[in-house]
Amino acid sequence: MGIDTRGIVEAERTKLPDDGVEYAPTPYETFFHAMKSVPADLLAGTFVDYGAGKGRVLVLATRYYNFRRIVGVEISAELCRLAELNLKTAAASRAQIICCDAALYHPPEDAKVFFLFNPFFGQTMKMVVQNIRTSILHNPRRVAVVVCGARNFNAAIAGQDWLIEKDSGKVTFSSPRWHVFLTRAEFEHAPSDLHSKTA
Ligand SMILES: C[S@@+](CC[C@H](N)C(=O)[O-])C[C@H]1O[C@@H](n2cnc3c(N)ncnc32)[C@H](O)[C@@H]1O
Repeated sequence: MGIDTRGIVEAERTKLPDDGVEYAPTPYETFFHAMKSVPADLLAGTFVDYGAGKGRVLVLATRYYNFRRIVGVEISAELCRLAELNLKTAAASRAQIICCDAALYHPPEDAKVFFLFNPFFGQTMKMVVQNIRTSILHNPRRVAVVVCGARNFNAAIAGQDWLIEKDSGKVTFSSPRWHVFLTRAEFEHAPSDLHSKTA
């Protein structure tokens, strides 16, 4: 594909907040393996990669799926610049990188797939989960949240009732485990829709 997304970039170099995780690219096989568990009707609308790094996942989501828009949220200006270059090289014109703290990003109303490859934990993860939930309450819909490094995510959704784990897996013994969560049925429609369906 001609892109350069390899290598680890240490947290000190990118000046991450204390709960940020350093850049390491999502393994290609892990991305495709996990995405197979996302229901086909969700492979449209906007795809959001939290902690987009050098843009590997953005390029893959653009090249292999029909999302209308692909958004990467990345806090490091240096990594954003490298991601821009990779998007240009890959002619990924449906993808864009937004340089900001993920905790402050409010997803668009048509976001259907949220991808998190171990980007952060703690308060940032809590705020991101809260912002996704708020987006769904404002605009009820079915979404998938694809997570690697689910320990952080599970802590953030503990006690919440809007997501259910659909599937999880690993490509090889040593590769990271992925999990796919889906919205529970009650969060997929506005209450009035449910009434009119049952009336
Ligand atoms: C493990 S990498 C994810 C790799 C990427 N998704 C890919 O395409 O392969 C984690 C990324 O999250 C970013 N990050 C950490 N804290 C962040 C925050 N609060 N807001 C946005 N990005 C953050 C890091 O700079 C790093 O690039």
